[in-house]
Amino acid sequence: MQSKRTNPGELRVAVVGFGWMGRVHTLAYRRVSEHFPGLPLRPRLAAVADEVPGRAEEAAALFGFERAATDWRALVDALDIDAVSITAPNFLHREIGEAFARAGKHIWIEKPVGVDAADARAVEAAALESGVTARVGFNYRNAPAVRRAKRLIAEGAIGTPTHASFRLLGDYAADPAGAFTWRYELERAGHGVVGDLAAHGVDLIRYLLGEVVDVTSAGAIFIGERRRPTGATTGHVRAEEGDLVTVANEDWSASLLTLDSGAKVTLEASRVAVGHQNDYGFRIHGTHGALEWDFRRMGELLQAGGEHAQDLPMATVFTGPGDGASAAFQPGSALSLSYDDLKVIEAEGFLQAVAGVPGADGAGLADAVAAAEVLDAIAASSESGARVTVAQRIAIAEAAR
Ligand SMILES: NC(=O)c1ccc[n+]([C@@H]2O[C@H](COP(=O)([O-])OP(=O)(O)OC[C@H]3O[C@@H](n4cnc5c(N)ncnc54)[C@H](O)[C@@H]3O)[C@@H](O)[C@H]2O)c1
Repeated sequence: MQSKRTNPGELRVAVVGFGWMGRVHTLAYRRVSEHFPGLPLRPRLAAVADEVPGRAEEAAALFGFERAATDWRALVDALDIDAVSITAPNFLHREIGEAFARAGKHIWIEKPVGVDAADARAVEAAALESGVTARVGFNYRNAPAVRRAKRLIAEGAIGTPTHASFRLLGDYAADPAGAFTWRYELERAGHGVVGDLAAHGVDLIRYLLGEVVDVTSAGAIFIGERRRPTGATTGHVRAEEGDLVTVANEDWSASLLTLDSGAKVTLEASRVAVGHQNDYGFRIHGTHGALEWDFRRMGELLQAGGEHAQDLPMATVFTGPGDGASAAFQPGSALSLSYDDLKVIEAEGFLQAVAGVPGADGAGLADAVAAAEVLDAIAASSESGARVTVAQRIAIAEAAR
């Protein structure tokens, strides 16, 4: 049953899981109304839950949540909560997502939405049945340079996209002393770097270039054992003591993708790429031009274009108020946004969607399901060494149900 809002201009939100993402969602809720004053809804921090004793209380004291809980179940049927941010580890997305959706709460959920496509589908089904609105944490599509790239591709500025390369390289797991957290377990994470980082790459590919038809992939684990931490963790911490445990999912993945347009795309993701921190980006080549973006230089887009394809220079364009939601943050060009700003934009899309604004911005659960199907196909292809069509992979999963 959906709760009745006491103040129709307010959306009373809960945040479940207060690690890195819980904090970023909370900060976004706190800033979104100031950046987007026209929004019909204003978030109110109603509740926070985290299973680590004291963590939710600390968050409540610091950020102003009205109450704190260690068990998220205590919040599911609360009449003073309209929406929830699900920022707990992947294995909890399905259970928490289904429970809150069935209780009539709108959902802003982190990628990859569960450990596999079946989980993402289950959350989508629950949301559809209950008629609640959902948005998913595919934040990189919110970067103004990515929005500019999408517009340029649609306008034909690079001709027909023929091939592209997407990379998501990180070093957060490059230290063998990095603790064995939920991210390294099949049961709690599902895929390894495929669910963690390639998920963002697949969303960008779909957003910019179209649907993935087939994949040929390889994956590898380079650090086979890690130590189980002795205390609670958040993010990527070191563990010098504790039992050695076998890492169950991939550190690195590389794929060749065919898109529905026929374009060919390479996608590489690594969590052990020494020397590369948050090195995310793409190069897209078309018949008459090219685009290149590096997340670490978020406000810059490299562009080439012209009638004669050969010898075109790549020019750097600094994004400005005309690109994406830039104008909500800065008045001129070359004033770059931050990672947190991408989440403020995502919060805006969520609030718009809940308020029923036509054409509300942001990735939805259908995007999460579509991305998860590709991620499962990548995992299947890495295992078999064969090319896997996404449709084949869906058929196999359906037959197994
Ligand atoms: N969109 C992005 O760029 C991005 C970046 C990082 C993580 N993520 C996603 O966000 C999610 C969380 O990742 P993180 O980096 O914040 O992880 P984290 O480990 O820093 O935080 C997870 C939090 O969830 C809490 N938690 C665990 N079990 C719980 C339970 N039963 N009830 C309540 N709280 C519980 C933990 O105590 C911890 O505070 C993951 O799904 C991850 O894929 C997305």
